[in-house]
Amino acid sequence: MDNRPIGVFDSGLGGLTVVKELKKLLPNEDIVYFGDTGRVPYGTRSYETIKAYANQDMAFLKSKNVKMIVAACGTVSSVFSMEENTDFGVLYTGVLMPAAIKACQVTKNNKIGVIGTSATVKSGSYEKMMRGINKDISVYQNACPLFVPLVENGYTNKDNQVTKLVAQDYLKPIIEKDVDTLILGCTHFPLIRDIISQVMGNSVTLVNPGEQTAIYTANLLKQNDMLCDCDKGGNYEFFVSDSVESFSQYASEFMGESVQTSVHKIDINSY
Ligand code: DGL
Repeated sequence: MDNRPIGVFDSGLGGLTVVKELKKLLPNEDIVYFGDTGRVPYGTRSYETIKAYANQDMAFLKSKNVKMIVAACGTVSSVFSMEENTDFGVLYTGVLMPAAIKACQVTKNNKIGVIGTSATVKSGSYEKMMRGINKDISVYQNACPLFVPLVENGYTNKDNQVTKLVAQDYLKPIIEKDVDTLILGCTHFPLIRDIISQVMGNSVTLVNPGEQTAIYTANLLKQNDMLCDCDKGGNYEFFVSDSVESFSQYASEFMGESVQTSVHKIDINSY
């Protein structure tokens, strides 16, 4: 048993898609969230910069005495997956492996699409992992960097014509490959899942890394006997590196409850 919080981070709002799933699955766990809103996006930056940012994000979470860190960011997960055996000094997961395993389980025609940030796609991390699981799988990727600012600016409604046009353009080459499964390889993307689904069509299964990562996190904590032993409902604290107001508003809407009082600004450069 371990009653310390779980630490979750992302470049901005995207990691909330993981928090929401963690909340469903582990309602009594405390969560400390860091959204690096002052430095979003990560996905258009170099590996060196992404790694440096992620190291600071993790140092901040460790300063909050977390029992586990979840990199709720496809970009960070892809960059770190290239370094096997990295020791973060605390239980750790990214979103890549849980999502890749699920996609390999659900595909019937062995054709899987992956959309993510430019850094994620360039790393080829999803393809390497899935072909390691099943070498008969073909992976078709496309970077969708504009989805991140669209989400950060609230262009998420299922009828939003701007986001829909962008989605049609980005997804066309993947649709042409006849995939039956699509990994939303950036944690911002489940926030526009309805639009992506409309464009891909009903026959394509969308894999949300948030859901799979929450399941993986729960299992890992259980195996290590590190689930909390309380039943009071988890406490949530949110930290950002830029405006508290805009994050609070969106996070409250997304989480379905007011988080206003639990959002704080920090200086991430001091970590
Ligand atoms: N949500 C992140 C991801 O999963 C990062 C998006 C970005 O900052 O570019 O890749």
